[in-house]
Amino acid sequence: MTTTEQQHDPEDRDDVYGNGETLQEVVSRFSRRRVLGGAAAAAVAAAVNPFTGLTRAAAEPVGQGLGPGPAGPDSGSLGFEPVPPSTADGLFLSPGHVGNVLIAWGDPIFAGVPAKDPRTLTPGDQEQRFGYNNDYVAFIPLPYQDAERRGLLWVNHEYTDAQNMFPGYDPEAPSLTFEQVLVELHAHGGSIVEVERVGPGWRPVLGGRYNRRITANTPMEITGPAAGHPWLQTNDDPTGRRVFGTLNNCAGGLTPWGTVLTCEENFNGYFGNLSAVEDPVLAASYRRYGLSDAGAGYQWPWHVHRFNLGIEPNEPNRHGWVVEIDPLDPSSTPKKRTALGRFKHEGAAVAISRAGKACVYSGDDERFDYAYKFISERSFDPGNKATGRDILESGTLHVAKFNDDGSGEWIPVVHTDPRLSGTFGSQAEVLIRTREAADLLGATKMDRPEDFQRDAATGRVYLALTNNTNRGKEGSPGPDAANPRPANAYGHIIEITELFADPGELGFTWEIFMLCGPEGDPSRKFGSVDPATVGDIANPDNLTFDSYGNLWITTDGQPGSLEQNDTLQACPTTGPDRGRVKRFLTAPKGAEVTGPCFTPANTTLFVAIQHPGENGTLAEPESRWPDYVNGFPRPALWWVTKPEGNPRVGS
Ligand code: FEO
Ligand code: CA
Ligand code: CA
Repeated sequence: MTTTEQQHDPEDRDDVYGNGETLQEVVSRFSRRRVLGGAAAAAVAAAVNPFTGLTRAAAEPVGQGLGPGPAGPDSGSLGFEPVPPSTADGLFLSPGHVGNVLIAWGDPIFAGVPAKDPRTLTPGDQEQRFGYNNDYVAFIPLPYQDAERRGLLWVNHEYTDAQNMFPGYDPEAPSLTFEQVLVELHAHGGSIVEVERVGPGWRPVLGGRYNRRITANTPMEITGPAAGHPWLQTNDDPTGRRVFGTLNNCAGGLTPWGTVLTCEENFNGYFGNLSAVEDPVLAASYRRYGLSDAGAGYQWPWHVHRFNLGIEPNEPNRHGWVVEIDPLDPSSTPKKRTALGRFKHEGAAVAISRAGKACVYSGDDERFDYAYKFISERSFDPGNKATGRDILESGTLHVAKFNDDGSGEWIPVVHTDPRLSGTFGSQAEVLIRTREAADLLGATKMDRPEDFQRDAATGRVYLALTNNTNRGKEGSPGPDAANPRPANAYGHIIEITELFADPGELGFTWEIFMLCGPEGDPSRKFGSVDPATVGDIANPDNLTFDSYGNLWITTDGQPGSLEQNDTLQACPTTGPDRGRVKRFLTAPKGAEVTGPCFTPANTTLFVAIQHPGENGTLAEPESRWPDYVNGFPRPALWWVTKPEGNPRVGS
């Protein structure tokens, strides 16, 4: 057994590193950039993982259940014809693929619920129907069912666009009734919907026994080190352990023990009246998290008392967490996992370390904020899923430091660190004010960390950084190796190789996988790829892998940066086409593409189209997608399949 193959105990570092080397020295020794640098390093990295010694070909997963496609084993790997860029109000797919609406805002998710114009929903109506602004999508196979034909979907509902929901709403003079605010609360959260394939398409199963709506009013439990802390106690909940609802659920993740993680991102925008907060520590912390007197324009603080800081000054501390939900138990109580820290969680990508620890990668989506990794205290046994139950209640949160030489480290965010113990009274305080703790630890300030995804075959981890036009502005940090462009309008993607390819390790090497921007932009380099030969892509957000290990990337913001509608694109991460993106789908006007998700054998892609027509109103719509005849836009979840030839989407 070689050193790199052996199972090792992370506590036993002398045996692993040897020769008295520090973690930093070992990582630097392994750093590809130090040894080779630039394009040569990328070419070698494409062939051999320096920690595992595995080539991509040796690690490549084969398609599940379908066997090779008609043109041979590689025929499914991004053989699709790209679509041209679009500025039109429609959704366009790569030729040979078909798709349509699976479910859209306002559609019933329960049997017996009648169809209704979503512009007229009552709060009670909305609780029984698909919510607004679908984002993260997870496909959950059901026991004894063919996963290519039936399964469960979890779908996040991130936020609401009142101007496209309520007739007569004037964004310049916002005024919503109490009832309309309740509709908004019930349009947040998530949906669990059983779905089945019929012909080339899919439809919801309205009688599905697991179907459920989670909203901003659903009772939830607060668990972990911060549960019960005085800063989490309110007049409504003196225990600090029970909270209503989840807010601004952006992306998420699936756990190998069968639960969904849904992530609270821009929770700050729902609260108002910051001036009423008297405790100076709390007020400073809230400013660090972006709270203000007016919030993001929601009317909630003026109708629902828990969103008014003058009435419930601690309520914001009860949001900004990762929420764990068991989709197969409709009566279960969702749990907020405080051990994973409190920040604007974009998503939560789960991997199991060699020692069996549950590791959760999560970005804090803010300019100059951080990338995090949680490592559980307990171990998970894949042969016994019950060992995953509540495993996220205890463990250690870490924050990333990207060194200029291509090495990096995960710094524990723990109260016992002398840099924190003078400022924070306990680990609970550290977790509630995670951002302020990370500020003291020398972590790297990033260009808006969005989705993390780990390639299970190579162990490499990808982090999308969507943009940061403030980088290098007066009074702001300038470029560094991991965030190399001033006024970064286009974003980039970083590739992380953990030491020994083990997510439980605290050292890593990293390189820029993709600098986004217009095709031919001289500031854009792709490692070994000639920048003149790759497509336009900007503002990467959600990431996912297909079963071949290709990386699929959604974009959020291309209308502003490239003057093109947002897209879903795909590229290999290894081989001669590493980083060469192909445009698979273009979104309608004003929309962002979110939640791409494949069935296990890649025969269906689910993709969520969020905020179509966001720059318009019901009176003057920017988009009429997807219904057109109704004259107003609706966020909607699409199915995409390939009826002819190789049935794998993208082949
Ligand atoms: Fe909700 Fe970071 O995108
Ligand atoms: Ca996102
Ligand atoms: Ca985004």
